[in-house]
Amino acid sequence: MKLNLQNAASFVPAGSLKAIAAQTAACNELLENGRGAGNDYIGWVTLPAEIDNALLSDIEATAKQLRENCEIVVVAGIGGSYLGARAVNEALASSFDAYMPQRKNPIVVYAGNNIGEDYLADLMALLKGRKFGIINISKSGTTTETALAFRLLKTMLEQQVGKDEARKRIVAVTDKAKGALRSLATKEGYKTYVIPDNVGGRFSVLTPVGLLPIAVAGWDIRAIVKGAQDMQKATAANVPYEQNPAAQYAAIRNALLQYGKTTEILVNFNPRLHYFAEWWKQLYGESEGKDHLGIFPASVDFTTDLHSMGQWIQDGERTIFETVLSVGDQKHSVVIPSDAADLDGLNYIAGRRVDEVNKMAELGTRLAHVDGGVPNLLITIPALTERYLGQLIYFFERACGISGYVLGVNPFNQPGVEAYKKNMFALLNKPGYEAQSAAIQARLKG
Ligand code: PA5
Repeated sequence: MKLNLQNAASFVPAGSLKAIAAQTAACNELLENGRGAGNDYIGWVTLPAEIDNALLSDIEATAKQLRENCEIVVVAGIGGSYLGARAVNEALASSFDAYMPQRKNPIVVYAGNNIGEDYLADLMALLKGRKFGIINISKSGTTTETALAFRLLKTMLEQQVGKDEARKRIVAVTDKAKGALRSLATKEGYKTYVIPDNVGGRFSVLTPVGLLPIAVAGWDIRAIVKGAQDMQKATAANVPYEQNPAAQYAAIRNALLQYGKTTEILVNFNPRLHYFAEWWKQLYGESEGKDHLGIFPASVDFTTDLHSMGQWIQDGERTIFETVLSVGDQKHSVVIPSDAADLDGLNYIAGRRVDEVNKMAELGTRLAHVDGGVPNLLITIPALTERYLGQLIYFFERACGISGYVLGVNPFNQPGVEAYKKNMFALLNKPGYEAQSAAIQARLKG
């Protein structure tokens, strides 16, 4: 993985980047010595080096069993309890994976990440009469979206195959002792995995939260861990700023913020990276957006969105910067054929690979956006493989921790996400919310 700041550093005075760069070492050190805010949630910092072989083997064995017994595996979870797995699975799989007729591995689908009635009805229609299993992931064990989907799917599975068989096809990933999901799993006798106390949802992809659904989809979780280990070493507090990509990324984003760049857009030129950006948005959004501070994390899929958001990025308010996630090699080679009539005028690129056209679109876009006043960071990986994805995941996590400390917030809490829940519970008359229910009804009556 390589980070190139050349087209971004020129947008901020050298002195100001240098001053912030100097802060990153101390902020990075806080992640290792545990003296920073939110220090009870920094277990992810050393996780790659500490993942134990027995746990990986256990996850692989459970994944094998689900793969052998299920045509479809539903991963129920929301936010940090599903985005990392989906990011990796979609980055590695065929874009048309679910439609491929001859499959080695089950189709992995996702639920419990919304409350769409039609979504759940469509999912249940898909699962009807099919051999399916469920991985239910919730650290708190009480998240409404996930619990609701799980109740529906569990009921359906038990009706389809009976309680004994259903039990074999359900795995719970949750807290070691607390929460409704832990109690339910103990009562029903499900296979369970523990989410460590000191790892928050959005930093949990390298725990069973991410690794189990990734292994079920057939990917090499050991290579992902290896990649994360590479990056744990490369971004450690004792690695000097000039060689430390996480420190550099944290510094430049904070420098750009000081100069009015309040939105960061993560850009890909590969549709498989759409969910990687969703994972990244949660990581940075929940970690930095608090105390009325933080860069707004946005994302676009190019070249698709060049035909929609491209206008805004080229020419709109100059409060944005871009971080392009560029992938060197493609898995496949597709060569553009020549055509005798050339009515579409494409013969000038005949004989060249589609990826060559894409790379020129990428370069052309980066240059145009820099010319238009949009600072551009470039992150390059040689290919979309498990190992490079592991590197990227840890790189972004480490940089996020450093960047949050530079910004001056606690990057490991998310108090803001409770507000909507309180209102929803009050509106639904949840027991225990009587006073809030009365208050909200009075407010709605005006
Ligand atoms: O990052 C976070 O902490 C959140 O996104 C949580 O992962 C998300 O709200 C799901 O929570 P839980 O795993 O408790 O169901």
